[in-house]
Amino acid sequence: MKSLSFYFKDANKKGYGLGAYNFVNFETLKAICEGCKKTNSPAILSVSEGAVSYLGLNFIKAMFDTAKKQYKLPLFLHLDHGKSYEICKKAIDAGFDSVMIDGSSLSFDENIKVTKKVCSYAHKKGIFVEAELGVLAGVEDNVSAEKNIYTDPLNAKEFVEKTGCDTLAVAIGTSHGAYKFKGEQKLRFDILKEIEKQIPNTPLVLHGASSVPQQYVEEINQYGGKINGAVGIPEKFLTKACTKHNIFKINSDTDIRLTYFAKLRRSLIEKPENIDLRKPNTLAIEEIANMIADKNSKVFKNSNKI
Ligand code: G3H
Ligand code: 13P
Ligand code: ZN
Repeated sequence: MKSLSFYFKDANKKGYGLGAYNFVNFETLKAICEGCKKTNSPAILSVSEGAVSYLGLNFIKAMFDTAKKQYKLPLFLHLDHGKSYEICKKAIDAGFDSVMIDGSSLSFDENIKVTKKVCSYAHKKGIFVEAELGVLAGVEDNVSAEKNIYTDPLNAKEFVEKTGCDTLAVAIGTSHGAYKFKGEQKLRFDILKEIEKQIPNTPLVLHGASSVPQQYVEEINQYGGKINGAVGIPEKFLTKACTKHNIFKINSDTDIRLTYFAKLRRSLIEKPENIDLRKPNTLAIEEIANMIADKNSKVFKNSNKI
């Protein structure tokens, strides 16, 4: 089975990207795996600190191991947005393949300090570290930022040299959640190019990269939800980022949530007599799997890269 470090190089060399998909329960884990099975794709399975509190590290590791064994795909377990050395250490000790230390809300020097500390623990155990420089707009449970502060290319070089992080999440105009743009939808590919010039050997990561498919937004609103004006990153930007640039990992969580809720809401309204959880969940799993397969094959171009 190919390693995560194999994909660091191969994805950038051959012009494809790996989806990093968040799971929070059995259903989302299964759906992501089913989607990757359809396209024979490698993928990163992410859990946030919120998901760690919800499921517990031991459950997460056991669920992941079972999935990996069953699906026989290059799947990698990743801690998403670890905010402290302590949570990263716990994930490493629990057997994760990689961790993200998100010091993006700290000062440059403090971010370097905590990232370096995580790297020195992780690297002794052969675990990879993703760091973040620059701030993404948007609000999540545990991840919030009011302004969008693009990654400074020269700072990126100094940061990578001083910390020894394996991959770097960059801020080029994406944001977390379902409301990514008010006006024109654009990403700063000019900044990305400059970052690549400074750190050509560092695989880059794009957070806040859900495309917010409008069919699910409409379905949610049609069946009693209220997410008017939700808009995501155009898929052509995501394809460009991973095929023409060094973006090797593309994070999607919101798209999974939207797909799940679209099917759940529809099913609850259309079948008011049903009290069997498996029925709406099965519909949600099938739809998420198709959505993931489409992303893998059409957007991230990683079909059959196992
Ligand atoms: O980028 C963060 C993910 O979407 C996780 O969100 O903290 O609500 O689990 P969460
Ligand atoms: P989205 O909110 O765009 O899905 O981003 C998820 C993410 O970046 C997880 O770290
Ligand atoms: Zn993120």
